[in-house]
Amino acid sequence: MKVLLAGAKGQLGSDLGPLLRNAGFEAAAFGSTELDITDSAAVFNTVRKVKPGLIINAAAYTKVDLAEKEKEKAFAVNSDGPANLGRAALEAGVPVIHISTDFVFDGSRALPYREDDATNPQSAYGESKLAGEAALAALLDKRVVIRTSWVYGVTGHNFVKTILRLASERDTLRVVYDQVGSPTWSADLASAIVEAAKSVRAGKAPWGTYHYSNEGVASWFDFAVAICEEARMLGTALKCSAIEPILTAEYPVPARRPAFSVLDKAKIKGAFGLRIPYWRDSLRSMLKELKGGGNA
Ligand SMILES: NC(=O)c1ccc[n+]([C@@H]2O[C@H](COP(=O)([O-])OP(=O)(O)OC[C@H]3O[C@@H](n4cnc5c(N)ncnc54)[C@H](OP(=O)(O)O)[C@@H]3O)[C@@H](O)[C@H]2O)c1
Repeated sequence: MKVLLAGAKGQLGSDLGPLLRNAGFEAAAFGSTELDITDSAAVFNTVRKVKPGLIINAAAYTKVDLAEKEKEKAFAVNSDGPANLGRAALEAGVPVIHISTDFVFDGSRALPYREDDATNPQSAYGESKLAGEAALAALLDKRVVIRTSWVYGVTGHNFVKTILRLASERDTLRVVYDQVGSPTWSADLASAIVEAAKSVRAGKAPWGTYHYSNEGVASWFDFAVAICEEARMLGTALKCSAIEPILTAEYPVPARRPAFSVLDKAKIKGAFGLRIPYWRDSLRSMLKELKGGGNA
């Protein structure tokens, strides 16, 4: 089966292309310069030319804080983009796998969020991603939407790389401990998406919305401590001797984040037979890969 992959050069997209090919898919992978999903004509033309059996959207506007200032741009990519892909998919009669976010929730719960829990985004980014889910749902029944959280990968900018950089430059780091969620290695998320693609190929995809992250929970502080510990165990020299837990209020940023965004993954595990790795094991694997590539 041929898969059209949009956003192929992002964290997730970079992991997804090779994994799709390993699973026997023909992946027609497009970075943002090759296919701009906000350009409706370009999306239609590309889908007509490629003739995919499945479209996967890994493209997104992910600059959470900047989105507060660039709301229009965030909505163009995160809402109009999936709508364009949805319309082209409808014309071609093919399904879409689309990725969304824990930021569609307000974070006021203390139990893992299920797919049918009430959404209430607190940021422009969260609003734009929820609008993208709604736009796709209004167009297409044959869709798998996977909400995920705290994504990091070997490619691109992310919390893991930021902490490694800061810990190599500074004696002390200050990291918030009152936001709790689940880190997600982009390679694990990509594997889950490949399982969903396989079920599309087999003609038995259970359409709908799903939650995926790595197993376990952490605060950003816990995550930062683990990054430094695991990196040191792999032989990375870091200057940092202390990580200080701080409150969100002590580190003001433009966009409001959910205080609690743990996702309940029972539905996706059941639907696609997934065994999801524990976040710290995946962090270790990612750091090994990063070091192996000479990046750490
Ligand atoms: N990162 C996270 O922590 C996180 C958390 C929850 C959910 N998610 C979701 O997970 C998915 C994958 O995110 P990611 O972490 O892989 O993000 P990412 O690394 O920022 O990748 C997104 C990719 O989309 C591309 N893109 C932006 N505008 C585009 C456009 N108009 N047309 C085509 N491509 C465009 C970007 O290209 P340029 O770099 O050239 O702009 C980038 O390569 C997204 O749906 C995101 O919302 C991410």
